[in-house]
Amino acid sequence: MMAIFEYAPAPESRDVVDIKPSYGLFINGEFTDGSGPSFKTVNPATEEPLAEIASATSDDVDRAVQAARKAFGVWSALPGAERAKYLFRIARIIQERARELAVLESLDNGKPIRESRDVDLPLVAAHFFYYAGWADKLEYAGFGRRTTNGQGGTKPLGVAGQVIPWNFPLLMLAWKIAPALACGNTVVLKPAETTPLTALLFAEICRQADLPPGVVNIVTGAGDTGAAVVAHPDVNKVAFTGSTEVGRIIARTVAGTDKKLTLELGGKAANIVFEDAAIDQAVEGIVNGIFFNQGHVCCAGSRLLVQESIQDELLAALKRRMGTLRVGDPLDKNTDVGAINSAAQLAKIRELSEIGESEGAERWSPACELPDKGFWFPPTVFTGVAQSHTIARDEIFGPVLSVLTFRTPAEAVEKANNTPYGLSAGIWTEKGSRILWMADKLRAGVVWANTFNKFDPASPFGGYKESGYGREGGLLGLEAYLDV
Ligand code: NAI
Ligand code: MG
Repeated sequence: MMAIFEYAPAPESRDVVDIKPSYGLFINGEFTDGSGPSFKTVNPATEEPLAEIASATSDDVDRAVQAARKAFGVWSALPGAERAKYLFRIARIIQERARELAVLESLDNGKPIRESRDVDLPLVAAHFFYYAGWADKLEYAGFGRRTTNGQGGTKPLGVAGQVIPWNFPLLMLAWKIAPALACGNTVVLKPAETTPLTALLFAEICRQADLPPGVVNIVTGAGDTGAAVVAHPDVNKVAFTGSTEVGRIIARTVAGTDKKLTLELGGKAANIVFEDAAIDQAVEGIVNGIFFNQGHVCCAGSRLLVQESIQDELLAALKRRMGTLRVGDPLDKNTDVGAINSAAQLAKIRELSEIGESEGAERWSPACELPDKGFWFPPTVFTGVAQSHTIARDEIFGPVLSVLTFRTPAEAVEKANNTPYGLSAGIWTEKGSRILWMADKLRAGVVWANTFNKFDPASPFGGYKESGYGREGGLLGLEAYLDV
């Protein structure tokens, strides 16, 4: 007879990471002091400070850009196959150190270890492997071959200034650095101020991989540091992921210069469930769509559009499922929903949820005990939401779902597209013809059918309208880093 064990694993140990008391900037292959006032990054699950982080002023950013410029001469002259070797090496070290990286990511960001370990880290390594594979095949990427006098085709742009957010710190780093390096560019990257630790560990990995100094530079700091990177006259390419508000500022800074720009901004995706959908699967997709990573996901399925005829059945099943979600310690392997990344983000989620109630929507959360310390918000669903409601229009960027209904496919399309954003959408139906019809009509960069939040390095990602412009990932992701 088989023994039955109660599966209750111990929390992942934070002892697998060696967090230093303080961190400098990573410039020209060395850790150096920053000239700005240092700041603390905290564990959002406990509010405990994790480390003191240097802050880069515009002079420090200038040092980093100069290092990247000098390294560009060396790096861009390497044969693609040589650059590929470094990228493959980095990818393998990421795999070897995945546990350490995952624990550090969960500590600094608040996301459940199950997600950092099983979703983020495999994707991070996959991105480096994928773009390593392109490094010696750029001539075949379809952007035109370089002529015999070295013109056109697949020339790198130069120094890329990259500013990333806190929701997927290491994954956004991979999305930015892997294609830039594969194409022969060098990089100055600024991680978000609440989640700098995995980028700094990545800096160590660059040293471990013997990457030539200056090819990757990491400058920590807040918005001012990001602005200095964007504005630096010797930066040739700017890549940003974050809020639409900052995206607009950056677009203004870059306008009138010859810098190339890609922006990945917010979203307010519709997850559309038709009456013929497999309800249990749809419920899993809805939960994954909005509660994955505490809803801190630009392509989160934050608007559920449900066909009126199955509204009651679907919502009952959804609430049952939400009752089983475990909120709490990010390092516990059974945790489904971790901590909100910062006090500021928690305040924003609370404010928008209060507006939801005051505008007349009905709020529901399962009974769940939240820890005393740290930043927490329970999985929440709002029903009776109208299109004019703030919570149907603004990005909440938290574990909060707004439910709207529709009767016909045409009405579903109209409501789904009624947003200034256009990053992603989901469709749940058994009818293949309806999936194709909907996918054609939805103004969204990514449309998932009978699944949600699925990512692959080979697949391009990006938005319409206020969700930004340019594509990351896949073949198109190379174009953003080449002078075509
Ligand atoms: P944010 O856009 O201020 O921060 C993103 C990054 O930009 C950070 O590294 C930040 O230091 C940097 N930054 C800030 N001001 C800058 C400037 N003037 N020039 C250059 N870089 C600058 O986002 P924040 O304040 O953390 O979040 C606010 C809201 O933005 C969230 O509630 C969410 O709705 C949205 N957001 C969307 C993200 C996405 O993936 N699309 C990611 C993060 C936030
Ligand atoms: Mg932090």
